[in-house]
Order: sequence, then C-alpha cells, then structure tokens
Amino acid sequence: MDKLIIHGGKKLKGEVDISGAKNAALPIIAASLLTSGYCVISRVPDLKDVMTMGRLLAKLGAGFQYKNRKATINTDGINFFEAPYDLVRTMRASILVLGPLLARFGKAKVSLPGGCAIGARPINLHLMGLAKMGADIKLESGYVIAKGKRLKGASIYLDTPTVTGTENLMMAASLANGITLLENSAGEPEVVDLANALISMGAKIKGAGESIIEIEGVDELRPINYSIIPDRIEAGTFMTIAGITAGDIIIKDCRPEHLDASMMKLKEVGLVFEHIAGGIRVIGPSRPKAADIKTMPYPGFPTDMQAQFMALMCLADGTSIIKETIFENRFMHVAELRRMGADISVEGGIATVKGTSKLKSAPLMATDLRASASLVVAALAAKGATVINRLYHLDRGYEKMEEKLLRLGADVRRVKE
Ligand code: EPU
Repeated sequence: MDKLIIHGGKKLKGEVDISGAKNAALPIIAASLLTSGYCVISRVPDLKDVMTMGRLLAKLGAGFQYKNRKATINTDGINFFEAPYDLVRTMRASILVLGPLLARFGKAKVSLPGGCAIGARPINLHLMGLAKMGADIKLESGYVIAKGKRLKGASIYLDTPTVTGTENLMMAASLANGITLLENSAGEPEVVDLANALISMGAKIKGAGESIIEIEGVDELRPINYSIIPDRIEAGTFMTIAGITAGDIIIKDCRPEHLDASMMKLKEVGLVFEHIAGGIRVIGPSRPKAADIKTMPYPGFPTDMQAQFMALMCLADGTSIIKETIFENRFMHVAELRRMGADISVEGGIATVKGTSKLKSAPLMATDLRASASLVVAALAAKGATVINRLYHLDRGYEKMEEKLLRLGADVRRVKE
C-alpha cells in the first residue's frame, strides 16, 4: 500500500487546477445505463472510484473506455443486471446502478452496501422510493432484488435529504410512466449536475437543487456528450491548505458559488479570497482564528469538508466546536490528529478543538477519504516528516494530490509499496 511522506512547514504558493467532481461523475456514468448507444462524459477525474464504476459497468456488459479525462460508455450490450458484493464492498456508490437498471430493464440485483468507516449508511429511502414507484423489492442473502416492468410516477417524501437516494430515484423516475415528486430531496450541486445531464438525455426534470423535484417520465432517453462540474470539495480542501500553510494559492476552474458555506467559515477564521479571472486566489492568515461549524445538507457546511476544517482548527487561536450531524461516526481523523499533538475531545457528535501553536509529525493511518485529506492538511503544517499510511483512501477521491501539492512547493513524496 502506498504512503505519503510530507515535511510540513512550507508556505504553499502557486496555481492548482481543480478536477471534475467525483460525486457528480459517478451518478452521471451510472445514468448512461438509462439509454443505449455511446455516452461521452468529459472532465471525469482519474480516480479509483471512477475506475470501479467503469469495472461495474463493464461487468453489466457495457463498453467503458477512459482516456484523457474522457469516459466513453457504450450501453448497447447490457446483458447482466447484478452489482456483485466484491465491487459494492469497495465502493458504496455502486448502489447508483440500481435505479437505472430497474427503470430500463425492469430488474436489478445489487449487493447491499454495509456500514462503513463513517457510519451505518442505510439505503432504506432508496428502496422505499422505488417501492412507491411500483417496484417489487426483496432483500435476500445480502442483496437487494428489485423487479418492476415499468415504474410509475409517485409522490415520495424523503425523511432525510439523501444525496445518492435522490439521484437513484431521479434516474428511475426519468423513465417511469407519469409524474414523480421527490419531496425533501437533496440539493447538492452534484444532484443538479446529474439532473442537467439527464435533461440533456431528454428527461423532463424541474426543480433540481430545490427541495421538491418534479420528474415527468419519458419513454426513452438518448446518449449524451456531457462535461462534469468542478469538484467543490477538492477546491475547499486546497483552500484549507492555503489557510493552514499561510499560503497564497490560485484555485483555477472552480465554482465558488458551490462553496458559499465553506468560504464563509474560512473567511471568519482569517482567510482572504480574491475573485480573479478563471479562478479564486486564497491567502492564508499567519494564524487562523477559531470558529464553530455544524455540518448540514447543502447549502449548509458540507460534511465532506468537516475533517479538513478540523485540521485547520487544530492550529487556531482559540477553541472551536465542530458538530457532525450527517454521519454518526465521522470523527475517525480525531485520534490521528491527536497523535500530532492536537487537543481535541469528542462527545457524541460534537468535537471540541482547542487550538495549539504547533503540530508535530507522526506516523499516521488514513481511515477514510476525507479523514485522509485532513491528515494531509495537518501534515503540511507540522514540523518534521509525517508519514500517511493507507493512501488508497485518498486516491479514491483526490486526483494526483501529491503532484498538485508539489507544484505548490510542498515537500511531499509518495512511496510505492
Ligand atoms: N440515509 C438514510 N437512509 C437512506 C439514505 C441515507 O437514513 O436511505 C442517511 C445517511 O445515513 C446519512 C444521511 O442520510 O445520515 C445522508 O446520507 P446520504 O445518503 O446523503 O449520503 P450518500 O448519498 O451515501 C453522498 C456522498 C458522500 C457525502 C454524502 C453527504 C456520493 C457518492 N457520496 O453519500 O460523499 O458525504 O452524500 O453529502 O455522492 C465522500 O465523497 O467522501 C463522501 C462520503
């Protein structure tokens, strides 16, 4: 397993290009199953999760080619309707093939994703919505088995605005007979990007990004040529890196309007933002101030930025209170940050971070994707050599992180094993 060795303490300066959004690319690749023919998706990040989705589509009988950030998918030959345990186990987002397979072929068998490092993460709302659209759903030997000749439009209320749940149901409803109303749906920019991709395929969708999405099913969708939005979480992570290294970074090709809550908090702790042509310049303070955050569904502060913000607060002047409300176990990075000298206590879903003036290097273990990112953020400010083990978590969601850091002047090295 590869590891990353970082000698922290350098002020990072320069430009960084933001990749396409992982969490938009995955559902949009899955959406190609709703049509037959060639879909060409560009600005697809070169990530492990994207390749896993490609392998899953290939398993279903699709052609999947990836070159120069472009995925070309041919869905003419789909002849297998099962997402096996081995693939779902490595990537929960595999559940995104359930809605499209069921809607286009009337059947799907998808391994139930288990819990993961950040929480139990049930999929009951995906299944409830599909059942409301008339699907017959059974759980057998760890698999969801779904059948239904043609789904029908339905009014569906989501108790929690689930992101992949909204996406699965929006895809399924696009080919259903009649109108579906998704109430209390997720409004993340990735959901809107999927809706835009579906609309280019010929779907009739109104209200994506708002709480109620209306989808009028159509008989057929056509292949698309579509480009993915920039990854707001990668952009936010580099903003935090500017913040913790007193750096001066130009973040290119990002969509700052997708980062309002994160940028507001980063400003509160002392970062300065300057909108410039083609990007945003971020200047970090000599020492950040403390601020409290509470993770919330979009447009609130994203849970996917919580760990990175916490790393920044470890060095803040003052105490910050960090409330995680989306996932019950998303504090796995705390134990690792403490090994670097951070003063953090956790009770329930609340972490209290007392800022210290320095962090020390240590050997660390990455536990999930965003936890890994927070360790990178912290290591960039720590004295000495920090070794981050189990780098595959970072590789699932950050494209060429160490190359981007090197270009900003970081002392970082990947050791292959
Ligand atoms: N939930 C239910 N029932 C369901 C579905 C969700 O109770 O049927 C609960 C979850 O347990 C959680 C909350 O609803 O407490 C929100 O979960 P959500 O379903 O929105 O999460 P997700 O769709 O599984 C996506 C992203 C995550 C991101 C979350 C929240 C993708 C592929 N994944 O997950 O991204 O953290 O939304 O914004 O889009 C990451 O990129 O590191 C990552 C984990």
